[in-house]
Amino acid sequence: MTAKKIGAVKDLEYSPLKGVVVDGKEILIIQTGSKIFAIGNKCTHRGCKLSGGKLEGETVRCPCHGSMFNIVTGAVVKGPAKNPEPSYTVTVENGELFIDV
Ligand code: FES
Repeated sequence: MTAKKIGAVKDLEYSPLKGVVVDGKEILIIQTGSKIFAIGNKCTHRGCKLSGGKLEGETVRCPCHGSMFNIVTGAVVKGPAKNPEPSYTVTVENGELFIDV
């Protein structure tokens, strides 16, 4: 695994959800309070982008058919999706975000 730079903490200032592509992988960065998490951005149901969805507590809701995923583990909280999203470790250094992919 290598840590890749994916932006700055201030990029999340106006929106808690941000989609990025790292090594061809679609990743959703999520900020809640002072914590930052990352899971897959492509819904495992039919592939909609979760970055267009809604953050609801510890879950993100897909904008297409309402599947909900845990933002820490990527687990499915509510279907129709059956498979979890991958989750990634985010680290912050001097205001920059890095992810292990
Ligand atoms: S594509 Fe996300 S719930 Fe269907």
